[in-house]
Amino acid sequence: MKERTLTIIKPDSMKKKCFGAIMQRLLDEGFEFLHLKMLKLTKEQAEGFYEVHKEKPFFSELVEFMTSGPVIVIALERENAVLHLREIMGSTDPKKAPSSTIRAIYGMDIQRNAIHGSDSKENALKEINYFFAEYQIMRSPL
Ligand code: RTP
Ligand code: MG
Repeated sequence: MKERTLTIIKPDSMKKKCFGAIMQRLLDEGFEFLHLKMLKLTKEQAEGFYEVHKEKPFFSELVEFMTSGPVIVIALERENAVLHLREIMGSTDPKKAPSSTIRAIYGMDIQRNAIHGSDSKENALKEINYFFAEYQIMRSPL
């Protein structure tokens, strides 16, 4: 069964101009792109997106980082999309991520870790709805 997930190519990857390589990796991994956009998140958008972390000590730093420059948000589709994306992303801390993962290759540290990936099917659908309306989703994706 095809499943949806959401990724955000974070500001560190945009600054390093490795967003193209990351998008190619996602295509090579068999993800179809349902919709994407580049935007600079507002403080409110970043706070709302990471609301589950609002009590964490790193929350204000996280919001500052996520609003520090443009990001690319992509709604993705694939068999087993949520788990597969988490696998190829690697651990939150790039130093702990297996060497072939996106975070190991492109991440800098536990905060500037290259990309976001939804952590459950339920959150994936919420996160896609946070950025895209259903009518905008491609019916015959690449
Ligand atoms: P994400 O939500 O971005 O896919 O990352 P994740 O599931 O691997 O990690 P999560 O615990 O959800 O944390 C969200 C993002 O917050 C930043 N962070 N900073 N300074 C710190 O200790 C710390 N811990 C997490 C990272 O950017 C992380 O991806
Ligand atoms: Mg997370």
